[in-house]
Amino acid sequence: MRKQIVSANWKMNGTLEQANQLLDAFAAAALLVDENRIAVFAVPAPFLMLAKEKLSGNPYLFAAAQNAYSKKSGAYTGEISVEILQSLGIQYLVLGHSERREYFQESNAFLAEKVNIALAFGICPIFCCGEPLEIREANTQNQFVAQQLKESLFHLTPAEFSKIVIAYEPIWAIGTGKTASSEQAQEIHQFIRAEIATQYGEQVANEVSILYGGSVKANNAKELFSQPDVDGGLVGGASLNAAEFIQIINS
Ligand code: PGA
Repeated sequence: MRKQIVSANWKMNGTLEQANQLLDAFAAAALLVDENRIAVFAVPAPFLMLAKEKLSGNPYLFAAAQNAYSKKSGAYTGEISVEILQSLGIQYLVLGHSERREYFQESNAFLAEKVNIALAFGICPIFCCGEPLEIREANTQNQFVAQQLKESLFHLTPAEFSKIVIAYEPIWAIGTGKTASSEQAQEIHQFIRAEIATQYGEQVANEVSILYGGSVKANNAKELFSQPDVDGGLVGGASLNAAEFIQIINS
């Protein structure tokens, strides 16, 4: 059975005080999580240890990093390695978010290197893919996403691929309040799973969790997550509001 995952993505938001408050609220909340339904919190790097400590009372809550570099260690001032994350006990890492692709020029090939090193260090990449508006308007989103998967992931062995999580996030829905309809989400998630099946077979495809991201809110999460190929969500803005995010987790 594939995991249902709701992941917060705080992006570059919050102070130490706000992080403390949010994490305390999540740690104290009655969350419908278990070994097959987990919640992940991708927090700014300086809050990783805090998040890990605060969430440690619940084995189904995980702190995650939002990015890491492609090299093991060395003279890369300002970067964070997966070796550092591993030493902190961090198990999840968001890679290839569209904001990283757009503002920091992260290419599919560069992301392939990051995926490789994360897996080598036993960290699960939450690999983001998704098309910009003009691609959706041209109705070529399937080809666009297929290319992202091919260039960043499809070199992996089936065993390696089984260790990753995918997040489909249409760029036109991120932070815009404009969500993909549940039909649109289901359609492309089904396509992504079919591409994985072609590459790795049905069994691997059925086991991989594919999250939807882009303006997931408490009032649309249930509908989106009830689609057969939508296995949870990657949530930005709404994950900074404790009450709302708790509702999303419990959806
Ligand atoms: P949003 O962001 O929920 O604020 O649209 C999602 C994301 O970027 O992961």
